[in-house]
Amino acid sequence: MTHQIALVTGASRGLGRNMALHLAKRGVRIIGTYRSSSAEADAVRHEIEALGGSAVMLALDVTDTRSFAAFASKVAETLKADFNRGRFDFLINNAGNGLFANFAEATEEQFESLMATHLRGPIFLTQKLLALIEDGGRILNVSSGFVRFTLPGYSLYASAKAALEVLTRFMAVELGARRIRVNAIAPGAIATDFGGGAVRDNEGINESVAQGIALGRVGQPDDVGRAVAAILSDDMGWANGTTFDISGGQLL
Ligand SMILES: NC(=O)c1ccc[n+]([C@@H]2O[C@H](COP(=O)([O-])OP(=O)(O)OC[C@H]3O[C@@H](n4cnc5c(N)ncnc54)[C@H](OP(=O)(O)O)[C@@H]3O)[C@@H](O)[C@H]2O)c1
Repeated sequence: MTHQIALVTGASRGLGRNMALHLAKRGVRIIGTYRSSSAEADAVRHEIEALGGSAVMLALDVTDTRSFAAFASKVAETLKADFNRGRFDFLINNAGNGLFANFAEATEEQFESLMATHLRGPIFLTQKLLALIEDGGRILNVSSGFVRFTLPGYSLYASAKAALEVLTRFMAVELGARRIRVNAIAPGAIATDFGGGAVRDNEGINESVAQGIALGRVGQPDDVGRAVAAILSDDMGWANGTTFDISGGQLL
């Protein structure tokens, strides 16, 4: 049996790690990326192997476009050496961090960092990997609930994610000829390290955010990882060029 293969960026922690675990539970092989901690990446690889899956973790900084050609070559080598394949099936553009900055004080450096991470990275990384994605494969871009609702401090971050959602639709149109589906997810507040872990660790913030969520609690990584595994399954094969809200009904 040929296993499907997913490349998940930012798989060392948080949502990316959880997506990799849920995909692995469904028999999908994982190429994960990490930026700073090979030890965390190794721990995720071990967790996947303990589930009976297999994973290879590669270093990647999604803001470093000049490294993308070498990264794509490394992915091609990994596919051949570890999975005996020439291409992979799913690309999840997940890596990234939030940045709190009130509009009045936000700097060009913050703007550039957010755009480089959440827009330029997914554009040019995907471009470099296109030849390695199977016809009929899928691309999933990780957006944010902040594209739909507003809270002070996230104007630049949300603007970058909004552009990513628009990009998603155009990618779906242009890659349709290869039957590659391109969708996005927009998670609401999820308890990860994101934003310094405030939603997870600060009781006051956790409670006030939960009050704005119809289901009465903040999201957990499993809420997103499970959804991603479902969205990438064949059952969702007719969904294309759309954004899935995964927020438990936040600020409806
Ligand atoms: N948590 C939420 O509430 C929430 C809600 C909506 C959307 N999102 C989006 O979901 C995605 C994952 O967030 P998360 O909550 O899982 O955050 P997280 O727990 O902070 O994990 C972020 C992951 O991305 C990696 N990363 C960050 N910047 C990177 C870069 N420049 N190049 C490569 N890897 C990089 C991190 O690697 P290092 O360990 O090296 O830093 C880590 O593996 C992000 O795109 C975020 O915007 C999160």
